[in-house]
Amino acid sequence: MPRVPEISLVPLTRDTIPTALDLHRRSETFDGVPRVLELEELEEELDDEHVVLATDTRLALLDGEPAGYVYTYYLPSEVREERNYIFGEVVPEHRGKGVGATLMEWAIARATAQLHSSGRSLPRYVRADSYDYIESAHRLFARLGMEPVRYTDELLRPLTDLPALPTLDGVHIVPWPAHRSEEIRAVKNDSFADHWGSTPTNEHHWAQMTTGFGARLDLSFVAIDDHDHIVGHCLNKRYEADDAVLGRKDAWIDNLGTLREWRGRGIASALIAHSLHAFAADNLTHASIGVDSENPTGAARLYQALGFERQTRSITHQLVV
Ligand SMILES: CC(C)(COP(=O)(O)OP(=O)(O)OC[C@H]1O[C@@H](n2cnc3c(N)ncnc32)[C@H](O)[C@@H]1OP(=O)(O)O)[C@@H](O)C(=O)NCCC(=O)NCCS
Repeated sequence: MPRVPEISLVPLTRDTIPTALDLHRRSETFDGVPRVLELEELEEELDDEHVVLATDTRLALLDGEPAGYVYTYYLPSEVREERNYIFGEVVPEHRGKGVGATLMEWAIARATAQLHSSGRSLPRYVRADSYDYIESAHRLFARLGMEPVRYTDELLRPLTDLPALPTLDGVHIVPWPAHRSEEIRAVKNDSFADHWGSTPTNEHHWAQMTTGFGARLDLSFVAIDDHDHIVGHCLNKRYEADDAVLGRKDAWIDNLGTLREWRGRGIASALIAHSLHAFAADNLTHASIGVDSENPTGAARLYQALGFERQTRSITHQLVV
């Protein structure tokens, strides 16, 4: 009888993050994921208060050879809900051997224990995302009792036929004022208060979002009223390594919000128009944005009106714990 290969799990260390990066890249290339993860990006993600290497990561060794990895990303919250996201990859040559299931079972147990340790009585969710066409991932999530709960679309627009820069009544659009970061964080948290799956972003996470890997404040904007209050924001990013697989130069509209009382006046549209002009001036070729397909504030409709079209869809799976 053939011997069953032995799967062992060990925490990642700073020294083995490059091994995880290699697994990640090979896996995404095989699956046709249009992205090239960079070492700096993975190091930033894993060396963070949301992910502790020793307790929240595991490298899977198949008879001693690296075959996959996983990490849990905890988003503590005082309001609404607490979430723990699972991310992981198994290289193509070692799929179908139980590596993914072993990693996911470990990660679900870890995520569940961490969510229960907060002492809060908010709803607790373990979640995992994957592009809709990666069926092996969805089968695995389903076998572990996770259910599809939400769809996120990635929309794309070439930087041609740019919309005119509108003039708004009582509001003007200016380049992102980095020295007013705390005010913009408050606007972000207010405008996303009822966005599905969103909880307030703390100072540390906001610093990572706005100054971490990919952030391009020089291509980002805010909306300011006549009393110098910030009422909307558009945080944009850029991932240069993706250009080679995409054959394009994409800018990402990463985080966009307008305070509730200022909605429906063209502010988000104007923030996007300014962003598109800045991207084109920076010699980029396309703009991308991710949107919850059921966004109740009609964001998808707004983006379509500005020339964005759907490219891909990913499915969020969830386990209530
Ligand atoms: C989505 C969101 C950013 C839109 O902001 P906004 O400033 O209201 O957007 P706009 O005013 O440009 O567009 C909203 C609607 O007003 C219309 N509009 C545009 N200019 C207008 C104007 N001058 N006067 C009246 N209506 C106008 C738009 O055509 C759009 O109509 P539609 O809903 O039929 O598509 C905002 O609702 C929000 O912050 N939502 C919560 C966070 C979120 O979901 N962010 C997006 C994540 S992907």
